[in-house]
Amino acid sequence: MPPKLNLAGFTAEYLMDIPEIDEQHKLFFELLDKIGDATDDLYKPLSDDEVDNVIDVLNELRNYALLHFRTEESYMREIDYPGLPKQKNEHNRFITDVIRLEAELLNGSAMPAIKIRNFMHDWYRDHILELDKPFSSFYKKNSK
Ligand SMILES: [Fe+2]
Ligand SMILES: [Fe+2]
Repeated sequence: MPPKLNLAGFTAEYLMDIPEIDEQHKLFFELLDKIGDATDDLYKPLSDDEVDNVIDVLNELRNYALLHFRTEESYMREIDYPGLPKQKNEHNRFITDVIRLEAELLNGSAMPAIKIRNFMHDWYRDHILELDKPFSSFYKKNSK
């Protein structure tokens, strides 16, 4: 049995009480587990075939993140959230970092799946806790 990814996913501390955003955050953490399905051993450098599988998963994660960022930014625009420019910068930086990671993989840099998974996971976790959650308090006070 290859090891499966069943590491820390979505937890209650990420909840923002904005159902559409919470659902999207939850689904992102579920999609992350697909990185584990793309390899036989999370801790060994990826083989060429596994690189192709992981790139497919990264594409899916990146597209989903883009959709989520657009949704989140529209909630922020609606109530003139002052933190929007910072959010946009961070969102764009994430997309750029994922594209760079995909290019590194395609150029043959051998890395284990766990490193990719942890990068994606930790970025999302830190972003939700440090930037998205403060927005949820602002939203509660300022939406009609
Ligand atoms: Fe978010
Ligand atoms: Fe965000």
